[in-house]
Amino acid sequence: MSTRPRISTRISAISESATLAVDAKAKAMKAAGRPVIGFGAGEPDFPTPDYIVEAAVAATHDPRFHKYTPAGGLPELKKAIAAKTLRDSGYQVEASQVLVTNGGKQAVYQAFATLLDPDDEVLVIAPYWTTYPEAIKLAGGVQVDVVTDETTGYLASVEQLEAARTERTKVLLFVSPSNPTGAVYSREQTEAIGRWAAANDLWVVTDEIYEHLVYGGTEFTSIATAVPELGDRVVILNGVAKTYAMTGWRVGWLIGPSDVVKAATNLQSHATSNVSNVSQMAALAAVSGDLSAVAEMREAFDRRRQTMVRMLNEIPGVLCPEPKGAFYVYPSVKELIGKELRGRRPQSSAELAELILEEAEVAVVPGEAFGTPGYFRLSYALGDDDLAEGVSRLAKLLAEAH
Ligand SMILES: Cc1ncc(COP(=O)(O)O)c(C=O)c1O
Repeated sequence: MSTRPRISTRISAISESATLAVDAKAKAMKAAGRPVIGFGAGEPDFPTPDYIVEAAVAATHDPRFHKYTPAGGLPELKKAIAAKTLRDSGYQVEASQVLVTNGGKQAVYQAFATLLDPDDEVLVIAPYWTTYPEAIKLAGGVQVDVVTDETTGYLASVEQLEAARTERTKVLLFVSPSNPTGAVYSREQTEAIGRWAAANDLWVVTDEIYEHLVYGGTEFTSIATAVPELGDRVVILNGVAKTYAMTGWRVGWLIGPSDVVKAATNLQSHATSNVSNVSQMAALAAVSGDLSAVAEMREAFDRRRQTMVRMLNEIPGVLCPEPKGAFYVYPSVKELIGKELRGRRPQSSAELAELILEEAEVAVVPGEAFGTPGYFRLSYALGDDDLAEGVSRLAKLLAEAH
């Protein structure tokens, strides 16, 4: 009998997406008739705007889109993404510097696969989105965590980054607004971090997927524009998922210097070829149109954000900083760990989240998924009534902890 492992070491080291797992469990309980309220999903609860859907419908009738198209994306979409990047970030790129990917996720994966050699180090500010560690690991890279907490609003300082830098550091991953914390770096903070990266010859991979979801006077700053000294060592990741409520359409992109984009396109040409043409034409309508749909969503998210922060902070043992962007809150629940609740004594935020799902039928994602145990991530991209009901249930249950 062969002693070789059935699954390769590389792939068996990948963990299941914890956020999708929580979502799947909540949906399964719901399907079984239990009234679960899910704070797990990272997607807007709005439908995709009609004009975008109409563009997709029209594309299905055009025989040109029934065939393979260039692996790197439809030329008209690449051009529109370049124009949108200039409009929203003030960053000038050619269409040839754009690679259209199957969602932002594929852009994340391909960026690291293209930039990293084995043992190259990537500075990752924790709490971080669950996909980054796996993409870095698959590329053979080594993740170096720079851990932040609620006392700084989950923002990292240049000093912290410098303390984590070694001669093997190749990339700084910069995510603002952040998933899971909603933290947004100010222009000054962004410039300071970008200049430090440039001075140390680092690459910056910047994930700008939440660029349009900022609240209360907060402004989004693209590090690529704010720090010209970075030159061509910047790779921007973005997509239509969050801005246009298009998570299911699977269109994202990567922008970078021509050699990086060419290499990443070669990789994509063997992995997936072109993204579905119908989805690309929907994305074309999205990025060429105005931003009124996202303005409407932003208003609703802002209202829910404020409700959620207020309600969570009223729960003894929960401490919730106000997020400035994206659609997540990231409260600390450290004070509740080890307390008795319904005859149990959860020893971690993961155990507490499980108990909450069973006892209150409320799904939250534990901080373990984001590299910082002791916290929960709750998405506020769900209806106002469900949001209030879910947090009330949470408050009622957690009040029993002693
Ligand atoms: C920070 C961040 N980047 C990228 C993505 C990728 O989104 P998609 O693959 O749906 O375009 C997500 C989705 O949750 C995200 O939160």
